[in-house]
Amino acid sequence: MNCPSGYIQAVEGLAKICIPDPNLYRREDGLYEPSWAPVFYNPRMIENRDICVALLREELSRGGSTAIVDPLAATGVRGIRIALEAGVPRGTGIYMGDLSLDAVRIMELNVKLNNLGEDVVVVHADANELMYRLARREGVALGYIDVDPFGSPTPFINAAVDSVKRYGVVALTATDLAVLEGRYRSKLLRRYGVVGSKVLQSKDVAVRALLSFVARTAAVYDRYIEPLLSYVTSHYVRIYSRVSRGGTMASEILGKCLGALWCCINCSYHQMRPTEDSWSGSTHCPVCGERLKPVYPVWVCPISNRDYLGGVLKASSEMHWLRESSRVLLEGIYRASNSNTLTTRLTFVARAVKVNPPPVWRVVECLLQKGFAAARSFTYSDGVVTDAPVEDVVECVRSETPSCRTSGVE
Ligand SMILES: C[S@@+](CC[C@H](N)C(=O)[O-])C[C@H]1O[C@@H](n2cnc3c(N)ncnc32)[C@H](O)[C@@H]1O
Repeated sequence: MNCPSGYIQAVEGLAKICIPDPNLYRREDGLYEPSWAPVFYNPRMIENRDICVALLREELSRGGSTAIVDPLAATGVRGIRIALEAGVPRGTGIYMGDLSLDAVRIMELNVKLNNLGEDVVVVHADANELMYRLARREGVALGYIDVDPFGSPTPFINAAVDSVKRYGVVALTATDLAVLEGRYRSKLLRRYGVVGSKVLQSKDVAVRALLSFVARTAAVYDRYIEPLLSYVTSHYVRIYSRVSRGGTMASEILGKCLGALWCCINCSYHQMRPTEDSWSGSTHCPVCGERLKPVYPVWVCPISNRDYLGGVLKASSEMHWLRESSRVLLEGIYRASNSNTLTTRLTFVARAVKVNPPPVWRVVECLLQKGFAAARSFTYSDGVVTDAPVEDVVECVRSETPSCRTSGVE
């Protein structure tokens, strides 16, 4: 079967996919611009989809998931890979939808190209309409919903958390990372209801701001979330949450898991506090004396479930066709999931205490020897993720500093 004119055949995971010919949509600097093509396909999201199929394998092995919905499916590559790679039992409906007719036509072709039967259903519909129609009108139990839009997922979160079945999983991608990071203060408040500005660990904050929004939205429907896997990489945030029902639990989770981050934009010192503290004046950094900046309300409970994540990692190791970089990313997320905290950036700590920045691994070793959890950050090359008090981090930075000057960020 040939792809239509303007499309070429690509292989991703175990799927064969007709995708727009990237040579037709290159910018002046030669880079492919997926949003210019009639149907969206971004090769930079292969790791995102690799992790998605590994996670679904783990979810299915735990007895989870019934019907699967990919309501913003574009070429259908995600839903098709799920059908081919995640070990989905026969009879599990996989619904792929898109508002664009071009996308629907390519999706239908791609479903045929991969010899997928009637379990994979292609629908021309608005994403919210599709989720509600399946859950409410057709009574389909939706075990997994994957919201992967261009930009912010906020317009689809109500329908996703309201339509997913009890204990189902909602996955979200947010590519408006600059907003979630706090670069545009008013947009962060408008879009996500979070007050704050950019700090030195803004990528970590982005994940917690999105989780906060999802938890608050779920609570509107008397539902609560448990994050299974959350991370930020490249240009996006990705979160997978289990959604359960119960108004009382939803209130409890909001009380326990929403709080404020207070961050030093000089040395990267940070702390988590209850949200109410955000209203009660300022505080100063115990390391350098700078005034701390608050960001609230954000998710302050763990952002991933370590046991579940271990299962996803194991599943990924059994899927030889996944990219090595996807496994490396998962391993990094797993290592850092030992502590529920933000990254401490050694370049800035070292500058504040007036020593040369030590190699990250030496500080990690030093903290481990002191008996704390500590790992290299997979988000910041000069970052350590640790549950150690700041005094111990500073002590390790001082003791591990090289005697001669080094270049700063590794
Ligand atoms: C970023 S692409 C999806 C990429 C795809 N999930 C993947 O993994 O390759 C976003 C898609 O959402 C579609 N879209 C935008 N708004 C929509 C809406 N309200 N309902 C359904 N589809 C929509 C666009 O046509 C586009 O194909």
